[in-house]
Amino acid sequence: MKVAVFASGTGSNFENIADDQTLKDRGLKIEILVCDRPRAAVIEKARRRGIQTFIVKPKDFENRNYYEQAIVKELANYQIDFILLAGYMRVITTTLLDEYPMKIINIHPALLPLFPGIHGIEDAYNAGVTETGVTIHYIDEGVDTGPIIAQQKVPVLAHETLKQLEVKIHHIEHQLYPSVILNLLNK
Ligand code: GRF
Repeated sequence: MKVAVFASGTGSNFENIADDQTLKDRGLKIEILVCDRPRAAVIEKARRRGIQTFIVKPKDFENRNYYEQAIVKELANYQIDFILLAGYMRVITTTLLDEYPMKIINIHPALLPLFPGIHGIEDAYNAGVTETGVTIHYIDEGVDTGPIIAQQKVPVLAHETLKQLEVKIHHIEHQLYPSVILNLLNK
């Protein structure tokens, strides 16, 4: 199974998927990292692993449609089965969705439909919930609204700091995303 990973930041999920030996053994191949931020740490993580990178700045394009068209064109060089979003901080539009219907998957650090958007962990924490979690879902035209594939809950303990909760959430992300990908490989 050939995938493209889209990421904008640190890339801990990218790294975790790329280094997963079980996924590699079952035939997962990250063909390319697509990144919209030239200074993102994830780029170096891809290069170190010999994974192709496509760095593309939205600002270089007249509009989002042209921006995504450039990505579609690049991906056409590979036979991409799935696009995995891993901390990609942009909304996906129909330009990409129409090319990859139900083939774009995202990880979100909260229990959707609760706390969508870019501050999922913090928003849940500030709301004072006693449990939050991680969601893996297909992308549709909304923001964090697509069909849910898997969720895992995590308790928010009394006196827990936001930082501690973030660490717990990322730990769960690093288990849940590979397990969902493994299921896709087994289909
Ligand atoms: C993760 O929390 C993910 O759920 C969210 O963005 C974060 C990316 O972290 N969409 P990283 O870049 O994979 O470390």
